[in-house]
Amino acid sequence: MTTPIVEMRNIEKFYGRIHALRGVNLKVNPGEIVGLLGDNGAGKSTLIKVLSGAVPYTSGQIFIKGREVQLNSTNDAIANGVETIYQDSALVPQLSIARNLFLGRELRKGPRWMDRMDTAEMNRVASELLRRVGITKNIPPTTPISGLSGGERQAVAIARAMYFDSDIIILDEPTNNLGVAETQGVLNFVRDARDKGHACIFIAHNIHHVFQVCDRMVVMRMGTVAADDLTPKTSTIQDVENVITGEHLAA
Ligand SMILES: Nc1ncnc2c1ncn2[C@@H]1O[C@H](COP(=O)(O)OP(=O)(O)O)[C@@H](O)[C@H]1O
Ligand SMILES: [Mg+2]
Repeated sequence: MTTPIVEMRNIEKFYGRIHALRGVNLKVNPGEIVGLLGDNGAGKSTLIKVLSGAVPYTSGQIFIKGREVQLNSTNDAIANGVETIYQDSALVPQLSIARNLFLGRELRKGPRWMDRMDTAEMNRVASELLRRVGITKNIPPTTPISGLSGGERQAVAIARAMYFDSDIIILDEPTNNLGVAETQGVLNFVRDARDKGHACIFIAHNIHHVFQVCDRMVVMRMGTVAADDLTPKTSTIQDVENVITGEHLAA
């Protein structure tokens, strides 16, 4: 049996009196793309914020590669190999692509006390990464993020997760507001990340996007996991929509 990359056990989350997560269990295996689906308010974002250390949970346990961890901050999560890409990801528009890729983890050169950034090396690595995630247009790594399209920004965020060898990459609605070609680009990066051994949790409103990339789907409803074994091979979009709405219970 493979050890899951991530296992969340019996996670409970209250925001004051709102019971947002009710005994949630979630496993993600190495090299697996899990689509996380559910209606507005189902608890998807809360679950991934818990996993990315952005919000504290009320109770439950989180294991990463079989080891129990306490994720008290986003830095804790990153240190444990969990990288999260939000819709308008945490990129700084005024800074260059290269600087954004290394934000908070800048490469250094020379003696430590001089604390000099190795800009040339960061630019070189950034160019290579841009090619790797499929930005073939010749965009110099010194270009500020503000000069990029939405899809290109997502690509930079994904490149960062891949470079730092995150075990699991979480994408919360990464295809919102993207054009058709850019959306295909993001879906390709997700597949590419999986092929390089990263696991992914992919949240998207558009169920067709989820069907195009996921190995397995987890559906949340009212703070619980309603199903965790649906796959694009064995379920139709209609089947999954019925679970999302709770229609399958009425049948
Ligand atoms: N910061 C917050 N404070 C209070 N309630 C919240 C907060 N964030 C989310 N909620 C509530 O928690 C529930 C789950 O929300 P959320 O995780 O955002 O769902 P989803 O991402 O599936 O739309 C909802 O009832 C929502 O109103
Ligand atoms: Mg959400």
